[in-house]
Amino acid sequence: MFNSKICVVTGAAQGIGRTVVERFANNGATMVYALDMNGDVLNEAFMNQSNVKPIVVDICDRPAITDLVEQIKSDYGRVDVLVNNAGITRDALIENMTEQDWDLVVDVNLKGVFNVTQAIAPIMVAQDYGSIITMSSVVGTDGNIGQSNYAATKGGVIAMTKTWAKEFARKGAQVRANCVAPGFVETPMTADLPEKVLDMMKDKTPLSRMATPEDIANGVEFLASDKSSFITGQVLKIDGGLVL
Ligand code: NAI
Repeated sequence: MFNSKICVVTGAAQGIGRTVVERFANNGATMVYALDMNGDVLNEAFMNQSNVKPIVVDICDRPAITDLVEQIKSDYGRVDVLVNNAGITRDALIENMTEQDWDLVVDVNLKGVFNVTQAIAPIMVAQDYGSIITMSSVVGTDGNIGQSNYAATKGGVIAMTKTWAKEFARKGAQVRANCVAPGFVETPMTADLPEKVLDMMKDKTPLSRMATPEDIANGVEFLASDKSSFITGQVLKIDGGLVL
């Protein structure tokens, strides 16, 4: 499905990102650039995969992102798929949220997504082909207690995605931008939540379970592939019916 494609995935060391990288790599991608700031976990994850290139980088480091994209351009001359998956949480009720936690989450989840997309989108527009998928969340449309910072960024990426869909289309380019909005997913990000909270999430979800990273990768794979070639500016919820 991804034969001859060059893909870039951020937050690739674990959780959803790692599963997405494996999906592309196992479906014929020529090369998957797997970006993450956690070098140990990243390098271990993809040690034996010849069509995955682990790159240790912080998506907030704009010069490093620019250099990396120049490198990809000189290696392959194109980028077909970008998955903006890296994201963090620093939860607190508004009265307790520190400025530092606000700034950090906005920097990674919003500006980091902007940084990588700004560097890669011109390549896609020039080649008249590309698909950008950004990881939002159901809290980006519906909010969540204790997540002022996170919810703002996950709503923000939806607004940016719709903007990009319009901008790239106006240039006449077949470059699409969409979001995936998961509910609760079994990954290291949610592993430390108290059992009580996890049970409450499952109870609130009509399909009565958390998502697996594979559930989310299925949606990403569809939006990255040509099967979704007439879909742009959309938000695909993968939440077991949590938000209806
Ligand atoms: P995770 O915490 O398991 O993995 C995130 C990865 O991103 C980590 O490997 C981390 O090192 C990397 N990362 C963090 N900051 C980075 C930076 N500045 N530069 C480069 N890499 C960085 O997270 P998970 O659960 O796999 O989530 C992936 C995405 O899905 C995130 O954007 C998250 O907000 C979103 N999401 C997750 C949900 C869940 O329930 N797990 C629900 C809804 C959305």
